[in-house]
Amino acid sequence: MTTKAQAVLDWIDERFPLTSSIKGHLTEYYAPKNFNFWYFFGSLALLVLVIQIVTGIFLVMHYKPDAALNASGIPAAFASVEYIMRDVPGGWIIRYLHSTGASAFFVVVYLHMFRGLLYGSYRKPRELIWIFGTLIFLALMAEAFMGYLLPWGQMSFWGAQVIVNLFSAIPVIGPDLSIVIRGDFVVSDATLNRFFSFHVIAVPLILIGLVVAHIVALHEVGSNNPDGVEIKKKKGPDGHPLDGIPFHPYYTVKDIVGVVGFLIVFSFIVFFAPEGGGYFLEYNNFIPADPLKTPPHIAPVWYFTPFYSLLRAMVWPLFGLDAKFWGVVAMGAGVVILAFLPWLDRSPVKSIRYRGPIYKSMLTLFIIAFAILGFLGTKPPSYAFFGVIPGAPVAQLFSLYYFMFFITMPWWSKMDKCKPEPDRVTG
Ligand code: HEM
Repeated sequence: MTTKAQAVLDWIDERFPLTSSIKGHLTEYYAPKNFNFWYFFGSLALLVLVIQIVTGIFLVMHYKPDAALNASGIPAAFASVEYIMRDVPGGWIIRYLHSTGASAFFVVVYLHMFRGLLYGSYRKPRELIWIFGTLIFLALMAEAFMGYLLPWGQMSFWGAQVIVNLFSAIPVIGPDLSIVIRGDFVVSDATLNRFFSFHVIAVPLILIGLVVAHIVALHEVGSNNPDGVEIKKKKGPDGHPLDGIPFHPYYTVKDIVGVVGFLIVFSFIVFFAPEGGGYFLEYNNFIPADPLKTPPHIAPVWYFTPFYSLLRAMVWPLFGLDAKFWGVVAMGAGVVILAFLPWLDRSPVKSIRYRGPIYKSMLTLFIIAFAILGFLGTKPPSYAFFGVIPGAPVAQLFSLYYFMFFITMPWWSKMDKCKPEPDRVTG
């Protein structure tokens, strides 16, 4: 570095911890040397967050959160999205990047969470990283739900109608709560305006704050790895972990491989299949919202459907409260229960590499259950596999398994026949 540049840097460092932050979080942040591709998804989630924020900023320049009908009888919000797609230069790509980005966010985050399950990344000392993660997941769901109302299509309108109505099932406060959420007795312009405000500023701020907390917590305790071995326990004479390598340049370069791979798949979808076969953008949402015409089948977007299945699985009234209330409880509990994972898992080892057959089978079945619940959530309750096996009881069975996986974990995770964890990472 030239003496002039060094002098500028020194000037900054005397007033702001620039060099020390770069050292602490990049050049002298020692990460385990055995990361595999599962470790791409954290940085990819950061990338998608940036894509969503940047494309969102440009969308807001032309989008109008207005449910009033224009001169052609089309709601202004719906018309503004069509205007972005057809008339704004480059508008179509900005919109498709944002709508495909929403689905990509969930793909990446689900894989990122699954990595946590594979390698026990939620276990001590990373409980807070995981809890911040669960809160991020909740915020992400709120963000996606409110964003979906904005195009003011049939699915936007009726999806919001169904979900907000669910809150009215909560005893005592429910009916008033749903009015507060809507800002009206029905989903209306007031709802659109408040969802816009939350989607564009409130929830993104919370999300960014949580992501910062997530990474600060990670850098405090250090990353886990595919062996689940704590690298900080074995340090060399220089004080650095023997199995660690500086994040920069080693993992900045490795993450670029993940970014390029992701961008290839992502661009392919944006350019050739932005509707994702009706899963990323539902066909009914190309019809303007019509409060007088209910679509024949209302289903949430694919990333909500496993939790939607948990909701629909509750069909029995209990303790004098109707089934709808218990459905809401099941859906909420399905997310919240994740936060307890660090204390439910009592296995002596972290990584799946050293776990026994019980964990491997329980986790495999959990993934199958989650996928089937997701699939059934996209179908009407009357759906039958091959036209013969009714979907509803299958969804109930897998919903039961979903919760049993967590609730019974303290027992089976302790009973499992694990292999001894090695002292050092295996490479
Ligand atoms: C916007 C969403 C998210 C972003 C941007 C994000 C970002 C990151 C990054 C950059 C890392 C370090 C790189 C890596 O280990 O892959 C990380 C690690 C981690 N994240 Fe996230 N994350 C997000 C959501 C979540 C969620 C929803 C969970 C779980 C509920 C979660 C749990 C974890 C855990 C346990 C680690 C430590 C993994 C290990 O050391 O093995 N994250 N995250």
